[in-house]
Amino acid sequence: MIHAVYPGSFDPLHNGHVDLIRRAARIYDRLTVAVLQNPGKAASALFTTEERVAIIHEVVAGMHGVEVDSFDGLLADYTRKVGATVIVKGLRAISDFEYELQMAHLNRQLNPNAETTFIMTATRWSYVSSTRVKEIAHYGADVAKLVPRATLRRLNEKISQDASVSI
Ligand code: PNS
Repeated sequence: MIHAVYPGSFDPLHNGHVDLIRRAARIYDRLTVAVLQNPGKAASALFTTEERVAIIHEVVAGMHGVEVDSFDGLLADYTRKVGATVIVKGLRAISDFEYELQMAHLNRQLNPNAETTFIMTATRWSYVSSTRVKEIAHYGADVAKLVPRATLRRLNEKISQDASVSI
């Protein structure tokens, strides 16, 4: 039974993330999508950890073997705590690789029992990032093609609540 963790900020979840969750769920028996509760980033985050978890819950409902959790501190400690032996990361472009390589080495040093694996982002989503989604939505343009419905609904709610949503 291989338990994998797919960590990220997911602020907010976009179609590239969803594609990766679906593909990783086909490979591993159990997949935990783990949302980072980052106190440093909390002020600049658009969605609270609870909102990000709720969006992902809605999207993965019915996906076999997929669950959602949040964590703070080191990913290596979290994977050790939940007994996961695989970390899943998405690679969009070579530019992601350098950062991810460093993280993979450090995470392996911190928890040698968790192996980092990379899944290439689907070409059609390789240009999508949460930052760009927030920016586009902030300026009132349509992001319906870039995010799942659960994200779109909550993005629209945020924007209507507060016209000056941070990006
Ligand atoms: O979606 P993101 O923001 O690129 O995800 C980054 C994430 C959450 C995977 C990364 O920041 C992380 O693992 N943070 C937890 C702290 C940690 O373990 N840092 C690495 C030390 S080697």
